[in-house]
Amino acid sequence: MAIPKKINTITCIGAGYVGGPTMAVIAQKCPEIKVNVVDINPKRIEAWNDSDLDKLPIYEPGLKEVVADARGRNLFFSTEIDEGIREAEMIFISVNTPTKTYGLGKGMAADLKYVELCARQIARVAKEDKIVVEKSTLPVRTAQSIKTILEAESNGQQFKVLSNPEFLAEGTAITDLYNPDRVLIGGDEDENGQIAIQALVDIYAHWVRRENIITTKIWSSELSKLTANAFLAQRISSVNAISALCERTGADVDEIARAIGADSRIGPKFLKSSVGFGGSCFQKDILNLVYLCRHFNLPEVGDYWEQVVKMNDYQKHRFAKQIIDSLFNTVSGKKIAFLGWAFKKDTNDTRESAAIYVAHDLMSDLAEIHVYDPKVSKEQIIKDLKIVSSSTEEFEKMQSLIHFHDEPYSAMNEAHAIAVLTEWDEFIQYDWQKIQKKMLKPAFVFDGRNILDKDKMNMFGFKYKGIGKGE
Ligand code: UDX
Ligand code: UDX
Repeated sequence: MAIPKKINTITCIGAGYVGGPTMAVIAQKCPEIKVNVVDINPKRIEAWNDSDLDKLPIYEPGLKEVVADARGRNLFFSTEIDEGIREAEMIFISVNTPTKTYGLGKGMAADLKYVELCARQIARVAKEDKIVVEKSTLPVRTAQSIKTILEAESNGQQFKVLSNPEFLAEGTAITDLYNPDRVLIGGDEDENGQIAIQALVDIYAHWVRRENIITTKIWSSELSKLTANAFLAQRISSVNAISALCERTGADVDEIARAIGADSRIGPKFLKSSVGFGGSCFQKDILNLVYLCRHFNLPEVGDYWEQVVKMNDYQKHRFAKQIIDSLFNTVSGKKIAFLGWAFKKDTNDTRESAAIYVAHDLMSDLAEIHVYDPKVSKEQIIKDLKIVSSSTEEFEKMQSLIHFHDEPYSAMNEAHAIAVLTEWDEFIQYDWQKIQKKMLKPAFVFDGRNILDKDKMNMFGFKYKGIGKGE
């Protein structure tokens, strides 16, 4: 037996926001490779196999076309995890790694129980040598743990572990996968490590230029992913910190972003001030980094990065407080329309969305929240509120205060205020003059994404407040 050089079959464990789109694109670009995507959740797999492509479990522009192209040809979704493991020369682990909610490292460290379970299952089921690729974002040195488990459980087979972090952003997953700035592959420096790296390079080389495929040592690859997300989130917290100062001083944060972004050393991207970043990665990865720093006895480094998350929490609470302050210090019994619930536009993902925390703050002051989001379901919103509730009593109270709309106008009709939480393009197109007429006066708009035109909104008679827009 030997570490496979040529890959005929890939199996990915975890059919989520990362595993699903990534494997669909690999299957589309490598028609000679069979790609299995397996998951323990039968409902999810059923949705991936639905003949109605509008029922795929995740919404991503361009995804259904890719699935339509490859599904049934060389892309297969199933719950047959053991069979998938046996059949493939290369196995991707793309299961979720949430922040631990219990025990040591609670609230900070990544919970690796699903990754560990996968490793044990692979070792138990595999009959031949395999390449195991960690796709989930993991703390540095997890590859080592996976390796230890694989070796301890193995019946003589060899495993080579690679780290291949995913950098796609939700909402643009397909274009990011088609044209990645870079693909990163970390592996061991020994001969088998290099064979495994080459096998994965050959897959991406079907559509990514070789010079954009970076190969490194395994720990560098793992730490690069955490560092990339920490740097990106840090830019948002930095610009959000300045937004608070702008509101006090009369400066405009978007003008500042334009001015500083023109400096080629800073660059224009990721400088959009907002109600706060959300998503499954930024907060989790930074907390993970902080935990690692403290674990390695580097408390100053840990404190430095933790501040990025604290600033983000501050921004979410500040936005909610501004709404309460502006509405004459109470929102009790007042109708507040929420435009958007997803953590960013063009996705139905709501994990860590700022909307959840803003809604929680406002409902603690007994506001009636009326939500409209073009892609997020009522069931999902209820689940999100449950996560942030501190007790059953609080959850029940929030359920009685939240209302759902499948079109925007009824959500805003006779509202005291509108809060924009997600930057969906359609919000810009609304008939704002008509909306203003149907609201209670003064009609407030709190634009948590700075997507509406301040001058126009004021002309229509709104009391408009953007993020980081001084009077
Ligand atoms: C997850 C992590 O959040 C991210 O850090 C990592 O980079 C990639 O994996 P995502 O794909 O967005 O991202 O997670 P999610 O949409 O929750 O999908 C994970 C899937 O794994 C779920 O469908 C879940 O059912 C499945 N799973 C989980 C398994 O199949 N087996 C398990 O043991 C655990
Ligand atoms: C991020 C990383 O970009 C990606 O490389 C990694 O693989 C996963 O984590 P994602 O969370 O999907 O991707 O989306 P991203 O576009 O990075 O946005 C994250 C959050 O930051 C969103 O809530 C977004 O609205 C917010 N954001 C982004 C800002 O508030 N301002 C900005 O300028 C950019």
